[in-house]
Amino acid sequence: MDTDVFVTQPIPQPGLELLRRAHPGFRINSEERVLERAQLLEEVRGAAAILALLTDLIDAEVLDAAGGRLRIVANMAVGFDNIDLQAASARGIMVTNTPGVLTDATADLAWALLFAVARRIPESERFLRAGRFRHWGPLLFLGADIAGRTLGIVGAGRIGSAVARRARGFDMKVLYCNRSPRPQLETELGARRTSLEELLREADFVSLHLPLTPETRHIINARALALMKPTACLINTGRGPLVDEAALVEALAAGRPAGAALDVFEREPEVHPGLLARDDVVLTPHIGSATTSTRARMAVMAAENLIAGLRGERPPNLLNEEAWERKRPRE
Ligand code: DGY
Repeated sequence: MDTDVFVTQPIPQPGLELLRRAHPGFRINSEERVLERAQLLEEVRGAAAILALLTDLIDAEVLDAAGGRLRIVANMAVGFDNIDLQAASARGIMVTNTPGVLTDATADLAWALLFAVARRIPESERFLRAGRFRHWGPLLFLGADIAGRTLGIVGAGRIGSAVARRARGFDMKVLYCNRSPRPQLETELGARRTSLEELLREADFVSLHLPLTPETRHIINARALALMKPTACLINTGRGPLVDEAALVEALAAGRPAGAALDVFEREPEVHPGLLARDDVVLTPHIGSATTSTRARMAVMAAENLIAGLRGERPPNLLNEEAWERKRPRE
């Protein structure tokens, strides 16, 4: 029998083709929707590999439901907060992600959101489509300057650094906060490493690029928001729970910060009604990596990780070295 591989949703064709060649009998949930919990628990039973998405919660219960043959969970995302890494490691199950290939697409979207919120693009488009554009006006849709202002990068990993580099074209001052210094950003861009507090006080645009961990959950809370300039805008293309959405709604209502642009949400796909109600907030449905070529590369990368893991090779994007050391035997 072919090794049992389960894919939780349709992924771009190049990834599926790779899987088809290596594991022709792979199973897939062919509907474009997140599986209900009970279905997921049922579908993973007996699988040796799962190709998962960020919308699939892969915790100890799922790993145990799969059973003793499960050797690898290949996530088609760079973020892996949907997977209980410790539980996987404890069971000798390898976990992989897709770093690097989505850096530019996500950095581009962060900038698109920055422009959208600063220049009030979605709001003014809604106005025009509603037939309300009757004449040019000196006071119509005044927004914020971008060139020459200060960009604050919270989390200067691959994506945060790519967002920072794009600021060069706009003569912006760049501040960043990160656990370790980024000498290259400092020499290339004259970027300055600061504390989160200082960054929040000084930046005109604050862009979030941290992974979601217990330490970073709600890092942008009421206290952090109160430090921001009343004219500043918050941009989040990282993970929704980095921001306390209820606190953000209150802060926006109080006029500090001036706006927000969010691609990710605390309880996706739900969006806080207080955000939906506001014109100074730009909202997109978690599309940071959503370009045709990026998603194809993510699918290929996830498939390659999965195939390597099942062949008994060390997958290129292994997240838990411990699991490699005590990996489950091939059947
Ligand atoms: C990721 O990969 O973690 C993004 O959120 C989706 O592409």
